Amino acid sequence: MSGTNERWASRLGLILAVAGNAVGLGNFLRFPAQAIQNGGGAFIIPYLVSLVVMGIPLLWVEWAIGRHGGQKGYHSTPGMLDVLGRSSLLKYFGIFGIFTNLVVAAYYCYIESWTLAYTFFSITDVFNGMSQGEVVQFFKDYLGSGEGFFNIPYTALIFFAITLGLNLWILSRGISGGIEKAGKILMPLLIIFGVFLAIRALTLDRGEYGTVENAVAGLNFLWTPHFDSLANPKVWLAAAGQVFFTLSVGMGSIHCYAAYLRKNDDIALNAASAGFMNEFVEVVLGGSVVIPIAVAYLGLASLSTFSGFGMSFMTLPMLFENWGPLLSAVGGFTWFGLLFFAGITSSIAMGQPVMAFLQDSFKFTRFKSTMAFGIAVLVLALPTIILYDHGAFDEYDFWAGTFSLVVFALAESIIFLWIFGIDNAWEEINRGADIKIPIIFKYVLKYVTPTFIMIVFVGSMIQPEGGNWALAFEGLFNGQGWNLDAGSVLGTLFHIGVTDSDKILVTNLTRLLLVSVYVILGVLVAIAWKVNLKEKRV
Ligand code: TRP
Repeated sequence: MSGTNERWASRLGLILAVAGNAVGLGNFLRFPAQAIQNGGGAFIIPYLVSLVVMGIPLLWVEWAIGRHGGQKGYHSTPGMLDVLGRSSLLKYFGIFGIFTNLVVAAYYCYIESWTLAYTFFSITDVFNGMSQGEVVQFFKDYLGSGEGFFNIPYTALIFFAITLGLNLWILSRGISGGIEKAGKILMPLLIIFGVFLAIRALTLDRGEYGTVENAVAGLNFLWTPHFDSLANPKVWLAAAGQVFFTLSVGMGSIHCYAAYLRKNDDIALNAASAGFMNEFVEVVLGGSVVIPIAVAYLGLASLSTFSGFGMSFMTLPMLFENWGPLLSAVGGFTWFGLLFFAGITSSIAMGQPVMAFLQDSFKFTRFKSTMAFGIAVLVLALPTIILYDHGAFDEYDFWAGTFSLVVFALAESIIFLWIFGIDNAWEEINRGADIKIPIIFKYVLKYVTPTFIMIVFVGSMIQPEGGNWALAFEGLFNGQGWNLDAGSVLGTLFHIGVTDSDKILVTNLTRLLLVSVYVILGVLVAIAWKVNLKEKRV
């Protein structure tokens, strides 16, 4: 059967599948790191505001575009955008919705495979008796890091193959039999594991199991708001970026899941429920595990060097060892198991849009499209694995996992809210709705959301050195010019601050690869419209 007439089997299954899509490694690795780097309590208010004026509205937009396109037989974004207006160019913006999923899937499945491996290592008690230095070295060896120009990490490759295989197995079983079932089984388990870890973390008192601080001090750090951060564009950019990543918006993935709805199925409540479930897992569970544990053992000062990967793979396994033989294995198993469940329910959500494109456009069977996705991910993942030390991985993450999301979200919101038109859009969002969305959101959608995304776009392009905008403007008027931050889009593009010539070479080759992927997908879209799809069905 081609995937085009598949449907979700139940509403609960749908919500758990979409929540599984959103709840991912970002909730547990990226959120705590972003919150800490941006001052803890200082981060929360811009984060929540971005959620309300940009995140949730974008969820509605994407669900509506998806359900609308699905009715016309399109399950990926080129076709979905095509039917929103007259111009034949619209479908080319939709390439982003295949490109990002494919490229992000490649490096995301790689991290996911580390979590599977570490679940296994925790059960087999590999970390028993290791010092901090040994746990760090273990991770480096696992990645094949620092051994020569190329990293060839055999164990990591095996776990990657297993992870990819599991993804393909779920995808090959289809929407209700694969994706929906995975969400229904794995999401409840994830929440149980998360609650267990959060309770364990928050009840760590000073002196118990070698702790130096009460874990609750970590919560205070995160939850004491600092209103002065509201005037800091750097914090806003980071907060908006995190909202994008965690909700999986700007990728074409939500659209794809929504395409398997019926014409009058609710969007308003489903989108909000899945979104809030993601926020619960991110802010409540994601905020109550690593930060409190880090603070309890290493003190508040340790947060200054906190990184998501470092904490999760190099520090936690050692800290868990303090809990005694049984509980340390349980701690490791629940932590890495939770990450793996979070990861796999997200990576399958990146696979489906790519497969749906092949099914709709070239009449691929589900099996054939699963295999095509698998091969593409394997090929694209190899550079991130083998050239990990030289920044191939980071390049994927920056261009496909961060920058493209903003570009695509900007394009889709203009196309849906302005070209398709706000009245049509509002009708589409509210048809069959089980809640009444306050009318003010009609104006938020039309004006605030696109403007907000536009500001994020421009801001991330030209972010000044150190994110210090006040100083940068001063410099501009003093005739000193504008110093770009190394992490800004333009700064990254021009390799600002990078001196390692190997790294520049690998970075440029990686970009060439990414551009080629984009062009190939563009050609496929053009061929699909020539061969199989009608030019316009408005
Ligand atoms: N939301 C996921 C996370 O928090 C990551 C993600 C970003 C994603 N974009 C996506 C997942 C698209 C699936 C589809 O980790």
